[in-house]
Amino acid sequence: MEVFEKADTVSKFIDKLKAEGKKIGFVPTMGALHRGHLSLIEAARKDNDIVVASIFVNPTQFNNPNDLKNYPRNLDRDLKLLEDNNCDLVFTPSVLEIYPDENSKKSEYHFGKIVEVMEGKFRPGHFDGVANVVSRLFKIIKPDNAYFGQKDFQQYILIKTLADKYLSDLHIQVHRCPIIREKDGLAMSSRNVLLNPEQRKSSALIAKTLFWAKDNYQKYTVDELKKQIADKINADKNLKIEYIEFVSDPELDEISNWDSEQKIVACIAVQVGDVRLIDNIYLSLS
Ligand code: PAJ
Repeated sequence: MEVFEKADTVSKFIDKLKAEGKKIGFVPTMGALHRGHLSLIEAARKDNDIVVASIFVNPTQFNNPNDLKNYPRNLDRDLKLLEDNNCDLVFTPSVLEIYPDENSKKSEYHFGKIVEVMEGKFRPGHFDGVANVVSRLFKIIKPDNAYFGQKDFQQYILIKTLADKYLSDLHIQVHRCPIIREKDGLAMSSRNVLLNPEQRKSSALIAKTLFWAKDNYQKYTVDELKKQIADKINADKNLKIEYIEFVSDPELDEISNWDSEQKIVACIAVQVGDVRLIDNIYLSLS
């Protein structure tokens, strides 16, 4: 497995592979890898000749400085995991490599509603940081295919829009992969290691409540279901719900009744001590 820190070196290396007709699959990450990330590597492995991962804790997408400071980092472990999972190439740039000056930290894209609801509303500036870094990574790697998790549903919608609307000349196919969960249902996340044992145990209630909602949503109105979910989550003293929203996929329209012919996704954010977790589930696929 090749590891590159410099953008121009990795770009040239990949250009050569592309000139040989190799198909490039790309998995951007912020490291602290888990089985969710590795499922994306596996999906990329199936469709491409060369699998590229990036590890970069992107400072511009953290709206909370403590979250950035506490974000788990373990490059040696991550590289070993990638090597063991048949990744061919890893890009591990420094902050200066991605953002050579202050100007480069500004996002030039406009996404409207996509960045105004849910994560966009509660994490101001977050999606500008994500769009900017992914756009920079896409321009450096120029993959044929790129892989993202449904775990970050709103982020996937943002990046699909970025690739189709703003970076269409790069011809990148953006793929979405299912949420990988722990045995007790908790969606895998790099932040899960920051939970203490008691908080970790309580956090299983997030997925459990979403699974309950999927089975029972039609018995309630939209507002009743929101209240039921919030009450169940907040009943645990370690959990505090930030939002629960029902939106359509892919438009992110707010759902006001279940008669909608759109696919409905229930999206949740929960504060567990200092750790913020998100999850989502399809209520209806029609
Ligand atoms: P990170 O949180 O490291 O996630 C990298 C990719 O792994 C994302 O596409 C995310 O949706 C996916 N992922 C995380 N947990 C998952 C799970 N349990 N099941 C399936 N996929 C999962 O998302 C980011 O990094 C950053 O915002 C990034 C796109 C790299 C830009 O900085």
